[in-house]
Amino acid sequence: MARPKIQYQCSNCGHTSAKWLGLCPSCGEWHTFEEHESQPSAGKKHKVDISEESSSKALRLSEIEVKSTERTSTGLAELDRVLGGGLIRGSLLLLGGDPGIGKSTLMLQSAAKTPDKTILYVAGEESASQIKQRASRIGLKGDNLLIWTDTRIQSVIAQARSIKPDLMVVDSIQTVFSDDLSSLPGSVQQIRECSAMLQQISKKEGITTLMIGHVTKEGDIAGPRILEHMVDTVLHFEGDQSQLHRLLRGVKNRFGPAHEVGVFEMRDSGLHEVLNPSDLFLSEMDENVSGNAVACIMEGSRPILVEVQALVTPSSYGTPQRTAGGFDQRRLQLLLAVLEKRAGMAFSGQDVYLNIAGGIRISDPAADLAVMKALASSLTDKPADPKTVYIGEAGLGGEIRRIPYIDRRLREAEKMGFRKAVLPGRETSVKSDLSLVVTDTVRKAVGS
Ligand code: TYD
Ligand code: MG
Repeated sequence: MARPKIQYQCSNCGHTSAKWLGLCPSCGEWHTFEEHESQPSAGKKHKVDISEESSSKALRLSEIEVKSTERTSTGLAELDRVLGGGLIRGSLLLLGGDPGIGKSTLMLQSAAKTPDKTILYVAGEESASQIKQRASRIGLKGDNLLIWTDTRIQSVIAQARSIKPDLMVVDSIQTVFSDDLSSLPGSVQQIRECSAMLQQISKKEGITTLMIGHVTKEGDIAGPRILEHMVDTVLHFEGDQSQLHRLLRGVKNRFGPAHEVGVFEMRDSGLHEVLNPSDLFLSEMDENVSGNAVACIMEGSRPILVEVQALVTPSSYGTPQRTAGGFDQRRLQLLLAVLEKRAGMAFSGQDVYLNIAGGIRISDPAADLAVMKALASSLTDKPADPKTVYIGEAGLGGEIRRIPYIDRRLREAEKMGFRKAVLPGRETSVKSDLSLVVTDTVRKAVGS
């Protein structure tokens, strides 16, 4: 018999190598390589046999029957929105997020809202009585919810086969394991093997399966990044634990729009859907306080008004501070440089603090103008109008660039009772009840 071969595998992404490596060339993590024995598969080489005729035939596109992709509601409008209208039968989903963010709560609430669906809940993280306690807290009766606490994958599959639920929730994929493997639950090998088995059963039996996965501090779904390509849909549940709101973000979606966002609020009675997120992120802006300006960002296809707050104060140390919360620090530095060079404002010798109210993180470049207005307002100590929304991306030459979805953004501002909008100069065809100020330079825009 051939001797087992020693191989090294990255515990983060599963990359294998014949030699031990300090730095994984695939995912860039340090010190993640572990020794594995790989049994050579005796003579089981995948050779392509060109002499034999294959019995199956490639199909013409026109001959392929389209299976119905009927969607069923999850009972939560925000979750449905991110999924593109609901769950598709037999699909495989991954819900990732930090521990304690509310993934289990979300799935339990969805179960409570769909009493006519049978849901098999594989609970590897909590005991059945803990789940019961939480369910009572959020008012879930749960006659349709079946809890299974044995996390051996073989027993999970057997349960799924016998119950044939409409939805199976595996909480979490890091706790299920196969007896056939020697590695610990949560290792790359186990996760890969178990999710492949879950994929098979979900496709074969038409059971929609949602796997919950914890994320690492870097934001990857821990270890199982390898899972992202094999599932149909990847959702991330994110938010600051010190804040109430939670964002459910579609990262990948084979059956609908990707990058849609659902907004929830975590309260004592569980997660509540936020149908109008602008309400959540707009505080009552004081018209006498300088340094605030309102932006309208897009999250998926959804416009959200957010308040940008800046504080510019003379620096007491040699190197001025630049601190950004909820906004990219380097983008802040770039916008400061544009203001200095193109609008003649002096930020050297000033500490600059920038914050996005409500704890949301923004990356839409359309917020540039509001950020610059907030900075300029704090520097000059002249408050901005709280009923004006600033929309536009800043160019390095001090020009304001066009951004997509201008109509939707303006409609949102109208809906929220705004009076005026400052927009990029080329947006001449837009119609709105707001009073529109179209300008093509940063210098003019921050002065409006
Ligand atoms: P949980 O769903 O267990 O998070 P995850 O499954 O992502 O690890 O959520 C746990 C957190 O949510 C916990 O810190 C308490 C909080 N929580 C509430 O604030 N209100 C509630 O009604 C519930 C059920 C949980
Ligand atoms: Mg949980």
